[in-house]
Amino acid sequence: MSKIRITVLFGGQSSEHEVSRISAQCVLENIDRSRFEIQTIGITKKGEWLKYEGDISLIGSGQWEEIARRQLRERKNAGLLSRYIENVPTLRALINYDDKDNSGETVDVVFPVLHGPNGEDGSVQGLLQLADVPYVGCNILASAAGMDKAFSKLVFANAGIPQADYIVVMRSEINEKIEDILGKVTEKFGWPCFVKPANAGSSVGVSKVKRPDDLMSALQYAAEYDAKILIEEFIKGREVECAVLGNDNPIASTVGEILPSNEFYDYNAKYIDGKSVTIIPADIEPSIMEQVREYAVKAFKALGCSGLSRVDFFVEESGRVVLNEINTMPGFTDISMYSKLWEASGIPYTELITRLIELALENYRQKTRSYERK
Ligand SMILES: Nc1ncnc2c1ncn2[C@@H]1O[C@H](COP(=O)(O)OP(=O)(O)O)[C@@H](O)[C@H]1O
Ligand SMILES: [Mg+2]
Repeated sequence: MSKIRITVLFGGQSSEHEVSRISAQCVLENIDRSRFEIQTIGITKKGEWLKYEGDISLIGSGQWEEIARRQLRERKNAGLLSRYIENVPTLRALINYDDKDNSGETVDVVFPVLHGPNGEDGSVQGLLQLADVPYVGCNILASAAGMDKAFSKLVFANAGIPQADYIVVMRSEINEKIEDILGKVTEKFGWPCFVKPANAGSSVGVSKVKRPDDLMSALQYAAEYDAKILIEEFIKGREVECAVLGNDNPIASTVGEILPSNEFYDYNAKYIDGKSVTIIPADIEPSIMEQVREYAVKAFKALGCSGLSRVDFFVEESGRVVLNEINTMPGFTDISMYSKLWEASGIPYTELITRLIELALENYRQKTRSYERK
């Protein structure tokens, strides 16, 4: 049987570029090479798409980029998006297996191991859809809706899933309307509250605001990352996460708990100090665990996800489960919560990657069938 050809996309222009590189390196180190043939394309922070044919252990550190540039010069074969964008069918060539001689061989599945805006938000998914290539993970709509925390709140509320109360503020309103905004926060939920960019990830731009005097600077900080900002009611509770896998009939993993090393699970606690602890399975009552898993699948379906998502919650002291957010392309190293949850639920990392690729092909076949009927 010939191997399925996979293109792994990594990097990207979001603030989660580094996280994506580490996830991708791990995927490349663990993917089943007896079944899959791999090529890698890195997206630089400037947005260039560079085919990379070097040592995969140089991806996480960022050293890949210089090598990829050298390879590009040697090939004199631009891997840059701009060369292909004029003509939609030739988008295929961008992710094509062998665009040197136009042999017509194409990639079978793209795995966009990309986090954050312009990666996890439907834009790359749209590009892949135009190129008519199956890809791992959620489609354009679910990716875009899942990335925008204000928008996904509407969908989850409609599905009846409890969430923190919130106010949406636009960057352009911060200076003029700060008095109004302060009044609304005090009236709706008070202090402390959380301020976060609607479209971001890895806790960038997120602050806990304890006093009204600190709201302005928190809003300005969040506004560095997005024009749309959320102010949220503070939820006092334990943080738990659940992994979901599948297409139309998704399954939920066991539940894991995060014990952040800082006051909340900020960027430092996630990636820098190495002191945050994850507990799998979470030490919570079985009925609460079931509630989390049920809401995770409900959230996945409500948003129309496919392939994978990690759904994050708070569990209040009373036992009430409150949804925090969904991640349609969660961190994907072999020690990331998503993969550890599946490992604990009986699906080892390499098999998880294989299943995701199979789900991508299944999803593509379903979609193609509906196109053909028209
Ligand atoms: N409403 C809230 N109440 C309490 N803690 C929160 C709230 N919102 C966010 N946090 C804390 O901030 C962290 C990052 O916020 P989150 O909304 O998950 O953003 P990101 O997409 O960047 O991970 C959470 O993991 C949690 O520790
Ligand atoms: Mg989060």
